[in-house]
Amino acid sequence: MTNPINIIAVGGGKGGIGKSVVCTNLAAGMALSGQKVILMDTDFGASNLHALLGITNPAHGFQDFFNAEITDPRTLLLDTGISNLKFVSGAGDNPGSANIDSEKIGTIISFIKKLEADTILLDLGPGTNYNVIDFFNISTQGVVMTTPEMTSIMKTFSFIRSALFRRISLAFQDFPEIQRVVDHSNPNDADMESYTTGLLRSKFAEQFPDQADRLETLIQDFTPGLVVNRVRNRKDLMAGENLLKLVKKFLEIEVTYLGYIIESDRVRDSIDDMIPFLIKDPQSKPSENLQQIIGALTNTDLQFVKRDGRIFVSKQVRLSSGWEV
Ligand SMILES: Nc1ncnc2c1ncn2[C@@H]1O[C@H](COP(=O)(O)OP(=O)(O)OP(=O)(O)O)[C@@H](O)[C@H]1O
Ligand SMILES: [Mg+2]
Repeated sequence: MTNPINIIAVGGGKGGIGKSVVCTNLAAGMALSGQKVILMDTDFGASNLHALLGITNPAHGFQDFFNAEITDPRTLLLDTGISNLKFVSGAGDNPGSANIDSEKIGTIISFIKKLEADTILLDLGPGTNYNVIDFFNISTQGVVMTTPEMTSIMKTFSFIRSALFRRISLAFQDFPEIQRVVDHSNPNDADMESYTTGLLRSKFAEQFPDQADRLETLIQDFTPGLVVNRVRNRKDLMAGENLLKLVKKFLEIEVTYLGYIIESDRVRDSIDDMIPFLIKDPQSKPSENLQQIIGALTNTDLQFVKRDGRIFVSKQVRLSSGWEV
């Protein structure tokens, strides 16, 4: 029996907050630590992830798959020059078609399920529309990102709410009446207090009491992780804590804090050089931050060292505190 594939999606409402750069480095780090990893660009229409890996012109992309020019999914796997890491581009010969309807999302899900990998990382585009949210919701582990600015915190809050409410809405697909109430409770860019999990719960208690337990399970099963990027000081770190508090208060879900990445020229320089910063200098501060995040995601303690141009990884499985040894 093969293990189920771990699908990690990296999202967050705002554009330009570092989703792609973090996703690429997570993929590189997991691959170096021995997992078979596939990194996918799902930002159709504006795909640029390949550049972060030093691939200037991807030979194939998802668009070819949609256009049925390619039928074997493995053809789309591009080499990255990093062992254990393959890449699927969002681009293709017919650029500009960013419209991914639910049928295409279904095609991609079946595509993903046919691949052989330990972990698939999905780099999401900006925004909270369904094209983006539906990819987030096919993951087995969602990662939301924010930067410390209030605008980014608010957008990431909206992203988490949209993902949760969309998940609930789709679970009640066979009950249009319920679905209408859920969708109406999640207008885009609505303020925090007016559209909460608590209010949705009370609507269920009033109108659909026999479905209240199902709603509870859907809420409890939604457990994304949070990464705060571009941190400069302690105050910036507090911004992440504030987001966790807001989510707990208004959405009543537990978001796991996975870690942070400092603001660093090394990140910017690595983008110019088209090499993931973790590979360029695994002992730099942002690389150490990233190792912590991979550790939190995989329940391991990792350490990357570069010697004579080669990267060595030491790995220790974390024992959960409840264990007696
Ligand atoms: N930790 C960091 N330190 C310094 N600069 C950073 C850091 N993280 C990201 N950046 C800068 O932010 C830019 C945008 O990053 P990236 O393209 O990963 O964002 P994104 O969230 O994927 O954007 P989009 O939503 O448009 O896809 C990078 O090109 C880099 O210059
Ligand atoms: Mg991006």
